[in-house]
Formats: sequence, structure tokens, C-alpha cells
Amino acid sequence: MFPVTRPRRLRRSAALREMVRETRLAPTDLIYPLFVRHGKGVRTEIGSMPEQFHLSPDTLVEEVGAAREDGVRAVLLFGIPEAKDERGSEAWDDGAAVQTGVRALKKAYPDVLVITDICLCEYTSHGHCGVVRDGKVLNDPTLELLAQTAVSHARAGADLVAPSDMMDGRVDAIRSTLDGEGFDDIAILSYAAKYASAFYGPFREAAGSAPQFGDRRSYQMDPGNVEEALREVALDLEEGADLVMVKPALAYLDVIRRVKDTFGVTVAAYNVSGEYSMLLAAAQRGWIDRERAILETLTAIKRAGASILLTYHAREAARLLG
Ligand code: PBG
Repeated sequence: MFPVTRPRRLRRSAALREMVRETRLAPTDLIYPLFVRHGKGVRTEIGSMPEQFHLSPDTLVEEVGAAREDGVRAVLLFGIPEAKDERGSEAWDDGAAVQTGVRALKKAYPDVLVITDICLCEYTSHGHCGVVRDGKVLNDPTLELLAQTAVSHARAGADLVAPSDMMDGRVDAIRSTLDGEGFDDIAILSYAAKYASAFYGPFREAAGSAPQFGDRRSYQMDPGNVEEALREVALDLEEGADLVMVKPALAYLDVIRRVKDTFGVTVAAYNVSGEYSMLLAAAQRGWIDRERAILETLTAIKRAGASILLTYHAREAARLLG
């Protein structure tokens, strides 16, 4: 007890503080999400996400090369289609933007991990993550389309696929279809506990994927639930998920902790577009210190139990940590 015990003794210098730090960030924790579209030389800033861009396959390779110099080792790709339709058929088109981007990246930087997001909402005319009939998002008819999309991404060279649609049974459908096509070594990072969140707002502008009617609450989770998140994670692990994700991160740190403590598996967390844009907006006004806020945010997510951090801050964070 005081005056013998003085916690401040270990806070006296940077060297001491760093020696006793419990949670350490490393560039290898980070996954950098990127948006790919068709074309050449495209580098269009996304209005709702400052300093994030729509890229064509060639500029994607440049961006990933630069990110790699910063220390980033893994990327997550989202696709912007040329045309949308009812079923989202460009999602599983081998010549679509994501597939083209994956091939270009694996050729230029075979050591960078390429993860692809598997969902239909960027590709469907109605903006929902599944097949729609009579105003309803149908579960089972969607599974085959997701599985085909995963196979198309694997064929292009993706190292992992990340289903973000929240249909029931999709991990099982994707696993068995990948295995049947000879892709049994392609891992699944499932968005296992994905909430119906206001914090995806900027992403929907980035991906042009806002639902044209209704919302996503019939498939994404209710923000009030955590026991249900554990059931979702249990199901995905049983179905063969290699890694599970909680999304968003900041408003769900308790969910990350519960998943980690309950299952003891490697947990990923997605520091989503709204979290990114809020921080940048405040920093641009000089209201918070940008670099400190980024590192504090990522440290909090890791301290909560996530060891894989999906974040649009990846390049900057890697540089700060490098
Ligand atoms: C597609 C998908 C979304 C995000 C990742 N995959 C949007 C959504 O579900 O509406 C959000 C990512 C972000 O906000 O950064 N289903």
C-alpha cells in the first residue's frame, strides 16, 4: 500500500512504459481494405472516406506495393461492378474487377495475403446481400451464389475468402463447394458476428451498396445481443470457419472479449468505415490528435481480444509502428 506501492514508478520513462506494456500492436496484425473497379489509372477519392480510393487493377498494384513498403502484409478486396442485376452475377464473373485485381496482385506481390470479401450487395440492383423475392431476402437460394463467388475468387488466386452476407449456413456451403473444386487449402475468415450498424454508412457510398428498399436487419444482428453473437460464432466454427470476425469493432468491444474468452480462437475485428471517417473528420478539424487516436483505437480493439485488425488506417498505423 501507499507509500510503499507507487504505480507511477513504472510510468517514468518511455523505455519503462514500453517494457511493461501489455498490448502491443504490430504491422502484421493489420488487414488493409481496398475498393477495386474496372479500368486503368483510376484513383478516385471516396467522398465519405477521405484518403481512401476507388482503384483499378493497375493502381491497386501500386497502392499495395506502397502499403507493403509501409509494412502492411494483408489486404481485403471489395469490388465495384460495371453493371448490377437482380442476382448480382458479376460477383462470380472470373473477369470482374476483384478477380482481375487478385490476379494482378498475386503476380506482382505473391507474398502479400489477398483476402476477398464475399457478398452480393455491391453487385445486386436492389443492394441486398442475397436473392430477393417478393420483397424478402431469401437465405437458401443465396448460398449457391456465394459459394460460386468464393470459387471464382479462389480460382483468381485469393488466399482467404471472407463471407460478409450473414446468410445462415453460408460457411458450410462455401467450404464444401471450395473443397469440391479442389480448393481445400483456401481458408475462410467469416464475418461471424456482424451487426446491423449505422457505422457502415460511409462504406455504402464507397461500394454503392445501399439497400434500395428496407434495411439489413432481417439478416445482420441486433446491436443489443451478445449471447446470440456467441451462437453465431459457434455455428461458423462448426461449419468450418478458420477465422471469425466481429464487426463493427468499437461499439462491440465486449463482444470481441466474450468471443475470445468463450472459444479461445484467433479473433478478427473490423474497424469499419464509420469509425474511420469519424476519426478523420475530428482530426481534420483539429479536435483530436490523429496519430494518437489511431493507435489508441487499434490498441483498444486488440486489448479487447482481437489479434487481427481490419482497418482503413492500416498504412498509416504500419508506418507509425514501423
Ligand atoms: C458487405 C459489407 C459491408 C461492409 C463490409 N462488407 C456493408 C454492409 O454490410 O452494409 C462494411 C464495411 C465498412 O463499413 O467498412 N455486406
